[in-house]
This record gives sequence, structure tokens and C-alpha cells, in this order.
Amino acid sequence: MFPLLVTGGCGFIGSNYIRYVLENDPNLCVINLDALTYAGNLANLADLEGHPRLRFVKGDIANPQDVRQAIGRGVSGIVNFAAESHVDRSIMDSGPFIRTNVVGTQVLLDAAREFRVPLFIQVSTDEVYGSLGPTGLFTEKTPLAPKSPYSASKAAADLLVLAYQHTFGLPAMITRCSNNYGPYQFPEKLIPLFITRLLQNQKVPVYGDGQQVRDWIYVRDHCAGIEAVRQRGRVGEVYNFGGKCEKTNLEMTHLLLDLLGKPKSLIEHVQDRPGHDRRYAIDCSKAERELGWTPKVSLDVGLKQTIEWYQTNRSWVATVQSGEYRSYYEKQYGRI
Ligand code: NAD
Ligand code: DAU
Repeated sequence: MFPLLVTGGCGFIGSNYIRYVLENDPNLCVINLDALTYAGNLANLADLEGHPRLRFVKGDIANPQDVRQAIGRGVSGIVNFAAESHVDRSIMDSGPFIRTNVVGTQVLLDAAREFRVPLFIQVSTDEVYGSLGPTGLFTEKTPLAPKSPYSASKAAADLLVLAYQHTFGLPAMITRCSNNYGPYQFPEKLIPLFITRLLQNQKVPVYGDGQQVRDWIYVRDHCAGIEAVRQRGRVGEVYNFGGKCEKTNLEMTHLLLDLLGKPKSLIEHVQDRPGHDRRYAIDCSKAERELGWTPKVSLDVGLKQTIEWYQTNRSWVATVQSGEYRSYYEKQYGRI
């Protein structure tokens, strides 16, 4: 059988997904195509180094040559995680977001057509639906209304995927998930940033009033959802995934302080994110009904496991914070 092409497999969710599929599908071989941006870290897959069913290709999804080279003689599917993923960075400079998230997806879609790839999964986000008021949930039928340059670039990519499916019959599907947390998340996102700062007794910056709501899902539950789509998803469909776990940012901050035994005086209210989405909340009943998937890890268990991971992997945190992780590839393979 041809291997599965996973893009962005050195990032947070991609690395967890590769670990998940290699464990769960003993016949599957994986090619990991990753450009190793600041968010890509080969150490996220260090435990799988030398794995006989995993091959790494350093390359850019927006570069057709790199994509063709990764596909080689053919692949059984493409799961596209590669993206610029941090909202704050998209507010500072949206250029890389358009290049990777939009152009990169288009290049992958064209390659999928050229090589007649039998399955294309676009890993998207609930942020494409925009922001909710105090009530209601995003369903797959909620109109797209992205509000940040990041979410606008993801929505553009989703529309391209649906257009290629409609126009060319490309066997594509889209997943839209809520906020993930868990091991190997780059400490720029709320949960890993706050855990790593609190472990060092540093203050944590809560944007604005901290009353924004996010729906938190443990990363392995998201990986299981994507895998269910790969196995049982219907072509042309969109599947929402969420953790059924809405928390305000201030509630989440208090939980982390309690679990780490740190004082509330470490909370610092800072200037709000421009255009900050107020609330995300997901209706994932379609995935439950059609795929037999449901989120399994409770917030209590997931947060404890995540904190423990950051506590026991201090050298991972240290090399990320010092920037040393960027030389991991050079040490393994020569110059970047
Ligand atoms: P991440 O930022 O941790 O990782 C992104 C990975 O993509 C990195 O390894 C990076 O090197 C790679 N990459 C970036 N540009 C590339 C390019 N041009 N070519 C090849 N590789 C490139 O992201 P993440 O949090 O793991 O998110 C993965 C995907 O899931 C993204 O598409 C994101 O939009 C989506 N998503 C994330 C969340 C979340 O909570 N983190 C929730 C829902 C959906
Ligand atoms: O909903 C899915 C999305 O979740 C993904 O598509 C994105 O890739 C992912 O980054 C995430 O986006 P958010 O903007 O929701 O995540 P972030 O961790 O950056 O922020 C979570 C909330 O916490 C948000 O309301 C902003 C707030 N925040 C964040 C940081 C980094 C703070 O208050 N302080 C902070 O320092």
C-alpha cells in the first residue's frame, strides 16, 4: 500500500497524529513533509526516530517541487496539518499565513489532482465560523465568517478544498476542531505558555477581561477524530470536533494556577488582542453520529497529563525557549 502523506507533522497536532496512527494502524507508512518553521520541531518526533514506517522530508507545501518529491511514486492520502497557526502572529504579519495556508493548500490540491491521490483531508479550525454570542454552537452549516487574518486564511483554504471537490471530484473532506491542548504544543498558545511561565513563577498575561470562551479538547481526541474521518468519512463532507468543554480564559487560568499550586497574584491583565473573538463553541454531534467518535479525555485528566508532560520534559521546553531546537535538524541532517 502507498504511504500516507502528512504535512506539518513536526508541529503540535501533526506530531501527535503521526504517533497516533503509527500506534493504531500497524500497516501504515507515513511520509512527514514539514518546512520546519519556528513551529516545527523534529524533537516532537524524537521518540519515533529511526521508525521503520516513518520518513521525514524537509519541504514547503507552497513549493510544487517539494510536494511532488514528497509524493514520489504515489501516496494513499494527504492529511494537511501544515499551517501558520497562531492568531497573534497573523495580526502582526499576515503574509506567511496567506502563503502557507492558502497558496500551500492550493499547491497540495493541484498535486493531489495530478497524482490522483485517493483521499485529501484538510485540517481546519472552528475559527472559520467567526465568533459566537453567549449562546449557540457552531454546526457544519454555520456560515463562514472569519475575523482574524489567520482564520480568514483557513476559511479561504476550506473554500478551495470544497471547490476542488465540486469541480474536479477530488475526494476531499474537511475537519474543523476547537482549541487543542496537550504535549508538544509550542509555548506561544495559552495553555503551554501559562504552564511554562507558571513553572518558572512568572506572571501570565490574560488578554482584556479574560471573559472570552474557548472549547478545549485534548489533542489525542482530535487525532482520533481525524483518523475516524480517514477511515470512515464521506467525501465532500465537513466534520466538526470539539471537547464539549467551554471555559472562559480566566476560568482556565485559575484552573492552571490551582493545579500548579501558584498564587492568583501571578495573573496580569494585559491589553486585549485586536478583534478578539469572544466565544467559540462546537456542536460535534455529526461526528458522533456518523463516525462513532466522541471526546474521551476530561479536562481534569487532560490538564494533569499536560502539566506533567511539561514538568518532565523541561529540556524540550528549554531548547524551545532558547531557540536551540532550531539546530536539531542540522545536527541530524546537515545545514537547513
Ligand atoms: P503548529 O503551528 O504547531 O504546527 C504547524 C506545522 O506546520 C509546523 O511543523 C510547521 O513547521 C509546519 N509548516 C508551516 N508552514 C509550512 C509550509 N509552508 N510547508 C510545510 N510545513 C509547514 O500548528 P498546530 O497547532 O499543530 O495546528 C496544525 C493544524 O491544525 C493547522 O492547520 C491548524 O490550523 C489546525 N488547528 C489547530 C488547532 C489548535 O488548537 N492548535 C485547532 C484546530 C485546528
Ligand atoms: O479554535 C481553534 C484555534 O485555537 C486554532 O485554529 C488555532 O490554531 C489555535 O492557535 C487556537 O486559537 P486561539 O487564538 O483561540 O488560541 P490561543 O491559545 O492563542 O488563545 C486562547 C485564548 O487565550 C484566546 O482567547 C486568547 C487568550 N490568550 C492567549 C494568549 C497566548 C490570552 O489571554 N493570553 C495569552 O497570552
